[in-house]
Amino acid sequence: MKKPKFQAPTGMHDILPEEQKYFQKIYETVSDIVSFYGFKKIDTPILEEAELFSKGIGLSTDIVEKQMYTLKTKGGDFLALRPEFTAGIVRAYIEHGMFTLPQPLKLYTFGPVFRAERPQAGRYRQFHQFDLEVFGEGSAVIDAQIIQICYNILQDLKFKDVIVEVNSIGDSQCRPYYKKLLVNYLKSHQAALCTNCRRRLRESPLRVLDCKEEKCQRVVARAPQIIDHLCQECNNHFKEVLEFLDALELPYHLNPYLVRGLDYYTKTVFEIFEEDSLEEKHIALLGGGRFDMLVKLLGGKDTPVCGVAGGVERIIEGMRARAVRFPRSSSPQVFLAQIGTLAKRRSLKLFEDFRKAKIGMIESFGRDSLKAQLGRAQKSEVKYTLILGQKEALEETVIIRDMDTGRQRTVKLDKIVGEMKRKLKIKK
Ligand code: HAM
Repeated sequence: MKKPKFQAPTGMHDILPEEQKYFQKIYETVSDIVSFYGFKKIDTPILEEAELFSKGIGLSTDIVEKQMYTLKTKGGDFLALRPEFTAGIVRAYIEHGMFTLPQPLKLYTFGPVFRAERPQAGRYRQFHQFDLEVFGEGSAVIDAQIIQICYNILQDLKFKDVIVEVNSIGDSQCRPYYKKLLVNYLKSHQAALCTNCRRRLRESPLRVLDCKEEKCQRVVARAPQIIDHLCQECNNHFKEVLEFLDALELPYHLNPYLVRGLDYYTKTVFEIFEEDSLEEKHIALLGGGRFDMLVKLLGGKDTPVCGVAGGVERIIEGMRARAVRFPRSSSPQVFLAQIGTLAKRRSLKLFEDFRKAKIGMIESFGRDSLKAQLGRAQKSEVKYTLILGQKEALEETVIIRDMDTGRQRTVKLDKIVGEMKRKLKIKK
């Protein structure tokens, strides 16, 4: 087939009607679970000042250096399409003085984010995240609880074998010393590193630790590890996180090379994978951690925060792979077929009665042939079809057809909504 003249931009996708159910399912699951834990929803603009991200995420990160979509407005503002939610939510927290609200303040959101990455499997330029942030609580119990919430979300979405990779990357007390140790070690093995890592060595040496190149991994395997160089406070915090995870019986791996691609983290960092994807693909479903310095860095009060974001498209890929089914009740269960002008007129009113009664109904008012309408009803996999012909319209009755058995029964038109509620076991 010839390519159409216009196509969606590279790495960006339409979400077609048949894919919407996955997004809806994920958003509903996230909202239900996080509401139980006391999270409140927030929405922030898709565009923010570009400087918010360069300052927040870090100038030398791949996200800021290579992947931000930026634009200059006619008024001279320099804006960026958000590459993630965290910096924008922190900006909103400061701007609206949310530190005066009872803490911890738990916020969540979801929507599209944008990163100009090289498109490949599981990596898109417009993708969707759900994001959770807990402000104003420095205790390790929050880190563990956030991991538990992620785990619950994935369990509800039918992911069985997920594994949490966790590490601590220290804070401003202990990380500078560790960085020095690491740089000294890496410098002495510079020749054995890939070109990317030789550059990283100058700009963000910690990122050498999670390079996927085999030759770099060989060097890294003998590098000093940050967990051996944490200060007392970070060490205690990390120990507590692991103890809480043990108490919750959550499966985790300690990954001393996990450093994450954003600069704002302090102490705990973690990523969640499907266990069997770890070896070959190493594509995280969710990633997050603690960032106790960011609120202050962006102009607010000293506020500890911990959060996470999940990649919606990646989770959907996992749901598709395990053919997660959606209950029939979420789609309409009744089809309305009509023949003749009077029946069509009655049907319009009947359709409204069903809408008010919140019973999902499909119609095909544009079609006149009963055969075509019944064919459509069959395809829509409804449980019942209501048939309103000339005779029924005159007698103010309607036929109920059970699509599984083919049995039919005639009911008075003014009784049909109540009758269908009974049949579909919908409470009044
Ligand atoms: P992140 O690890 O950059 O963290 O992204 C979180 C998740 O978004 C990843 O685990 C992945 O599932 C998904 N993701 C990332 N890039 C892509 C892509 N190009 N295509 C498809 N999916 C992708 C953050 O964004 C942090 N803001 C998380 C956080 C919140 N930390 C604290 N609070």
